[in-house]
Amino acid sequence: MCGIVGYVGTRPALDVVVEGLARLEYRGYDSAGVAVLADGESDERELVTAKRAGKLVNLRNALDETPPPAGTLGMGHTRWATHGAPNDRNAHPHLDCSGKVAVIHNGIIENFAALRAELEENGHKLVSDTDTEAVAHLLEDELRDGGTLADAMRRVCGRLEGAFTLVAVHTGDPDLVVGARRNSPLVVGVGDGENFLASDVAAFIAHTRDAIELGQDQVVELRASGVTVTDFEGRPAEVKEYHVDWDVSAAEKGGYDYFMLKEIAEQPRAVADTLLGRIAADGRLVLDEMRITDQELREVDKIIIVACGTSYHAGLIAKYALEHWAGLPCEVELASEFRYRDPILSRSTLVIAISQSGETMDALMAVRHAREQHAKLLGICNVNGSTLPRECDGVLYTHAGPEVAVASTKAFLTQLVAVYLIALYIAQVRGTKWGDEVFAMIQLLAQMPEKVEKVLETMEPVRELARSLANERSVLFLGRHVGFPVALEGALKLKELAYMHAEGFAAGELKHGPIALIEEGLPVIVVVPPRARAVLHDKIVSNIQEIRARGARTIVIAEEGDETVEPFADTLIRVPAVPTLFQPLVTTVPLQVFACELATAKGHDVDQPRNLAKSVTVE
Ligand code: M6R
Repeated sequence: MCGIVGYVGTRPALDVVVEGLARLEYRGYDSAGVAVLADGESDERELVTAKRAGKLVNLRNALDETPPPAGTLGMGHTRWATHGAPNDRNAHPHLDCSGKVAVIHNGIIENFAALRAELEENGHKLVSDTDTEAVAHLLEDELRDGGTLADAMRRVCGRLEGAFTLVAVHTGDPDLVVGARRNSPLVVGVGDGENFLASDVAAFIAHTRDAIELGQDQVVELRASGVTVTDFEGRPAEVKEYHVDWDVSAAEKGGYDYFMLKEIAEQPRAVADTLLGRIAADGRLVLDEMRITDQELREVDKIIIVACGTSYHAGLIAKYALEHWAGLPCEVELASEFRYRDPILSRSTLVIAISQSGETMDALMAVRHAREQHAKLLGICNVNGSTLPRECDGVLYTHAGPEVAVASTKAFLTQLVAVYLIALYIAQVRGTKWGDEVFAMIQLLAQMPEKVEKVLETMEPVRELARSLANERSVLFLGRHVGFPVALEGALKLKELAYMHAEGFAAGELKHGPIALIEEGLPVIVVVPPRARAVLHDKIVSNIQEIRARGARTIVIAEEGDETVEPFADTLIRVPAVPTLFQPLVTTVPLQVFACELATAKGHDVDQPRNLAKSVTVE
């Protein structure tokens, strides 16, 4: 949710931190703030903070007006508000009573009310409504008892409940930035004579691609000369170093007005990269990182998929592929609901968790719940070094590259590729499809990047359509089979970007209620299955006629060569003909373009829609 950056080295810390915050603003944009320890010779340095409600630009303007003194150690925060309104007062960093300790935080400290009451009883003056501020005052008390800021942080973490990434600095430790994490992301960037801390490597990728993945309940001491990691008890911790396989250009707009436009355009490459290295010369699939043995896969008797938002829609599509190819019963669960029911799991259940960020708290909690029930865990994730892959038995990384826009696009398409690969791989291992059938599907899957490219080349009419509908109040989406989750995804994109009422329905459900919504001129986007699925295809063509007869404006997405839909479509959007299960790869793209263009026409910031943040790291 919030974005965090810490730096210590030789450069002006403020520049590094603000540049990092700009790359993390997708995580939250309710307010932004920085803290810098001023350069000097003494053991005690001046601590300067600045913070402003609203987007980072407000903070930048304030810093231009009143530049803080130079310093080579600092930290910064971009906020998605949980506790306390998004105003200057609640913006991070938060200080203790003495003004010597500054803290930034991502997550929720669940026992903050009790801690706050205790602090106030002991004479501390808290000035914000946040949970975070309590930590600054707790550190103040601990520092009074002796030791370094890191010692104090370890002791304080032992008292906190909930999810947190904390970063703190102290005037008496002028070469030290301390970070701590539980259930919230924090990575270290390792430089030469300088080191970085951030919620996401994007914050420091311009300076170093060498990173350290921090584990659960760890504290990191960051100095210009090196990095030390311990657990909350102070014992040295094992850490995993890795090299980031993309560079700074991937985290920039590259000439596009919005990251979302760039990420939509990158989809053919992202799909191709996710297939890369996974198809052996003999045509068989090789999924090295799966780390779940063939024998274990043969023992699986049920699959449960857990995910949120767009990743959940990828899970809904996965169900069709897994049941069809792998021949296994498959349930798809909203991760946020999963652990609050009594899902039936056993050692032979395979739980697949899908998450672009690998940091979505609901997905992590679902994974932990499944772990307690001894299920096998497989993650589908886009962010190397994130929490979800570490907590699963195996992982299949999507190679979409960094997704910065809040609305998920290229991550979704690559998640689909990942689920197709997994379903075909299980079919290969368990022999539920003949080898030549699996081989034939893999060959067709390998053609998908060019099919997606072809869709992108024909999007101008979709953009025109979107502009013409900018003043509509409501848009409905209909689909059947794998087109149903596509309809849900189209509606989600429109809601989050255009702030319009949008609903996705299974077309077969129309006459069970939703048809009552149809009125004169209502735009209804219908995703038509391939003609090869004759029964479903013909039924949805009937549905189109039914809604049109009642006044709907029909916008039909159908494969090339499908002439049967032409008489009933007010607008016809063509996509290449592909196998049924792969159709979401081509039918989703026009819906992404549609939502993006319509929202832009309404003057919205499509990269940072209101009230949202890219990763939802609190429940
Ligand atoms: O990082 P995750 O895939 O776990 O995120 C899940 C959802 O929060 C995410 O897909 C969200 O729905 C997107 N903003 C949709 O565009």
